[in-house]
Amino acid sequence: MKKVLIALLFVALALSFVTCRRAASTGTPSIGVAIYKFDDTFMSYTRNAIQANAEGKATLEVVDSQNAQPTQNDQVDSFLSKKLSAIAINPVDRTAAGTIIDKAKTANTPVVFFNREPFAEDMAKWDKVYYVGAKAEQSGSMQGEIAYDYIQATPGVDKNGDGVIQYLMLKGEPGHQDAELRTEFSIKYLTDKGVKVQELATDTAMWDRPQAVTKMDAWLARFGEQIEMVFCNNDDMALGVIESLRNAGYFQGGKYLPVLGVDATAPALQALSEGTLLGTVLNDADGQGKATFDVAFALASGSDPASVTQVTDGKYVWVPYQKVTRDNYQQFQK
Ligand code: GAL
Repeated sequence: MKKVLIALLFVALALSFVTCRRAASTGTPSIGVAIYKFDDTFMSYTRNAIQANAEGKATLEVVDSQNAQPTQNDQVDSFLSKKLSAIAINPVDRTAAGTIIDKAKTANTPVVFFNREPFAEDMAKWDKVYYVGAKAEQSGSMQGEIAYDYIQATPGVDKNGDGVIQYLMLKGEPGHQDAELRTEFSIKYLTDKGVKVQELATDTAMWDRPQAVTKMDAWLARFGEQIEMVFCNNDDMALGVIESLRNAGYFQGGKYLPVLGVDATAPALQALSEGTLLGTVLNDADGQGKATFDVAFALASGSDPASVTQVTDGKYVWVPYQKVTRDNYQQFQK
């Protein structure tokens, strides 16, 4: 019995060896991709773009980290133990990137982070670490610019005529570079231009539409007619704000409030066309997904990412934002 078992074990081992060799001989590298959570509108666009670019070139293992860093850590361990050729990580918590880099370095598996930027000191830990993303301050400034143009063109925007724009700020996840910098730079654009502003309230809705509806319902009850403008760090939250305003009778009979977002998702472009959303900023999921795959694929194939895309400071790939308003939204619709 023992001998039979040992013989069977050998056959199984021999078979798995042959299968591994076959997989290797097809020449398509395997790349592990972890997304902080699948249930995020913009990240689902990015994930689709990564997958579309991988077609025919690489085998992807794409996993949902379900907004839990411990889950993602296990997924990274599993990618590394399977000896995948490269990994692309959208961290749940960007402060966890340092540990991921240490592990990847030990396993000699190149890593590309995307959308959530690790700290510079972590990025400096190894040369096979890259980041693909967009300059968060640029999206903030562009949002501020759309707001500024609107203020200039619309005398009635200062509803109480006090020479100050009273606004609400709905933020994404605290600590996320896009939440912090969009918040800062949108307002900075206005104040640099000499616009006087007053923040009535700020809070996070964690990038999430239903949470934004709840926050806006409460703010409407508290501030009502005092509110003159609403800044949101992304479109899902802007759409939540619009939903709340609509329920309170806005966007009909001349009742209006300017609401701004970021991402240029399909429903946001729809809202622009309907005249509810004032403006947004294209967060280029297609461009970021393509760059993420291209860099991971280059690293997996042992080539230099700088030969396939523009790399800044040896490890950063920056994909530009674009302003989206009622004048140009049609060119972003698919
Ligand atoms: C931002 C995006 C948000 C959300 C977040 C996730 O860049 O604007 O909508 O997807 O990334 O990290």
